[in-house]
Order: sequence, then C-alpha cells, then structure tokens
Amino acid sequence: MTIQNANLTMNASFLETTYATERTWVNTVLEACLSDYWAVQTHKNTALQVTLPELETLWQALKHATVLGGKRIRPLLALETYRAFYPEQSAERCFETMKGVCCALELIHAQSLVFDDLPCMDDDDLRRGQPTVHKAFDEATAVLVGDALACMSFGCLIRYSPKTIASTILLQCVQELSDISSLQGLVNGQYADMVSEGKPCTPERLSYIHANKTGALLAFSLRAGALVAEASPKALSIISTLGSVLGELFQVVDDYLDVSVSTSQLGKTAGKDLVQEKATYVSVHGLEATKRQVNSLSQQGNLLLKALKTEVATVEVSRLEALVTFLQTRAY
Ligand code: IPE
Ligand code: IPE
Ligand code: MG
Ligand code: MG
Ligand code: MG
Repeated sequence: MTIQNANLTMNASFLETTYATERTWVNTVLEACLSDYWAVQTHKNTALQVTLPELETLWQALKHATVLGGKRIRPLLALETYRAFYPEQSAERCFETMKGVCCALELIHAQSLVFDDLPCMDDDDLRRGQPTVHKAFDEATAVLVGDALACMSFGCLIRYSPKTIASTILLQCVQELSDISSLQGLVNGQYADMVSEGKPCTPERLSYIHANKTGALLAFSLRAGALVAEASPKALSIISTLGSVLGELFQVVDDYLDVSVSTSQLGKTAGKDLVQEKATYVSVHGLEATKRQVNSLSQQGNLLLKALKTEVATVEVSRLEALVTFLQTRAY
C-alpha cells in the first residue's frame, strides 16, 4: 500500500516496542481472568466432590481462543484514550483504572473471532497463526467457548475495574457493551455480512456491515476510555466520531490485507473474501479506491485528534496519533 506521511515502520515490531509494556499488562489481566474463573470452577467441583477431568479440554480451548496471539488493539485504544486525558498519571496507574474495560473488550473480541471462524460462518481454519478453535478442538467446544467468553466479558468489566470508577459510569459501559455486542453492532453486522455473500453490494450496505460488525466494538473501545476519563460531552462526541472513523479504517484495511498479504504474514487464510464472495471495500470499490479510503480515514482520524486537542487543551494525543498510523499502515 502506498502510505503517505508514514514516518514509522508499522510492522510487528511497532506493537512489540512502543506498546510492549501495555500489551503485556493486557495479556496478564487476561491470563489472570481465565485463571480466576478456572480456580472457582475447580474449587466448586472439589467442594461438590465432583471431578470431571474432561473439563481440562474446555480450559485449554478457552486459553487457545484468548491468550494465543492477537494484537490487542481494542484494549490499547481504550487505554490510550483514557491516558490522553490524564497525561500526568503514570501509564501503570492508567492501566489499573482501565484494566476491567481492557479485559472485557478483548474477551468479547475473542468471542467474535471464535464464532466468525465457525463452519457455519466464515469457515476458517487458521487464526492468529494457529488452528481455529473448532479445528483445534471441535465445533461444540468452540460454541461453548464463545458463549463463556461473551458472558465473562461483562463480569470482568465489573470485577477488574477499581472502585474509583463511579458505578454510574460502569453501568453505562455495561449497557453500551451489551448494545454493541448484540443488536447494535456485532450480531446484526455479522448477519448482514453473512446474507450479503455472493450478491452485488451497494456502498451503503457495505458501510452498514463495516460500521456494525467491526466499527461498533472499536468505537466503544475509545468511548469507554473517554467515559472512564469523565470527558465532557463535547470531547466524548469527538471521541465517538473518531472511534467510528477508526472502526471503518480497521475493517477497510482488513479487507485490503485479505487480498494483498500472505497467509503466513496475516496468521489467517489470505484471499478468503474473494473465494466466499464477501462484500468488502475491495470488492465494492476496487483496490485503488481502497488505498485512497485508508489514507482519507486516517487523515480524518488525525483531524479529529486535533479537534480534541482544541477542545481540551490538556489532552495529550501523541500515542493515539501513533495508533492511528499503525491502523493505517499495519500489515497483519
Ligand atoms: C480481526 O481483528 C477481526 C476483525 C474485526 C477484522 P484483529 O485484527 O484485531 O484480530 P487480532 O485480535 O489481532 O487477532
Ligand atoms: C470479522 O470480519 C468481524 C468480526 C466481527 C469478527 P472478518 O470476517 O473480515 O474478520 P477476519 O478477516 O475473519 O479476521
Ligand atoms: Mg466474517
Ligand atoms: Mg472472518
Ligand atoms: Mg477479514
């Protein structure tokens, strides 16, 4: 892709360097969350004097879906949005505040991937460079793993959020997470994606698919950061628009990468959208228009960050700018 204004090399090493610490924190809370759930589960079984060794497989499948790879973009966006409002706070303290939100976002995302890959959906064999959950285990296990992850997401939002977050804000996050992971985002978006296979697709329909199946969760990631930061209504509105723009950017780049990057680089099967006649930005608008849209959306993202800075003088947007550049130029 011809990228304008990209002064950073956006490859695997960008996330592994600039965001290494933050990604480690996210991975740590995810692992702790799975272990906490499992400890309770094991303890209960012991208390009831029931031992089911087969459950070990469910545990392995949960870990497979959650902790083996992944960019952790949604938690990073949430954390960096919050942090932008509190530049004087240490990164660690910001993460402590955002830990529950970060964990919840990644769990619901993991669930969406497990279901997206099912034979009845996109029928994918490879995810994050590993066999998909239904391939490594079986379909019924994958369905139950997705089921668990979605429900755990809400519990973790509460469990790992500090008491310093007002309960009204947490409740608002729960409400929005529920909306965007059901019928104001993921589910209606995935349904629209599914029923649009193999048919001519209008630009409006494509926008609907992108905004819902991917955009809603990504936009909520930024909104959650701003909500917890107790941003003003105007700042929250700018962040919401930015989230929608980055959500579209994310899926347009995903569509672009499907036709331009190898399976080994992607960690998922390249070229599948074409085979399955998916409605994508590339199939609807063509490759050149896709590249232009990627650049246009990232420019919009940067303008919105400038508008945020004008609105809130104390905000520090440089790490969000870096994430916008990553989303524009990522190659996996
Ligand atoms: C892939 O999301 C699914 C889409 C919404 C396009 P990511 O590209 O964030 O997947 P991981 O978490 O890094 O594997
Ligand atoms: C999936 O979009 C969006 C989700 C809700 C998971 P894709 O089907 O394009 O995602 P990939 O390419 O399989 O990651
Ligand atoms: Mg899909
Ligand atoms: Mg898919
Ligand atoms: Mg895709």
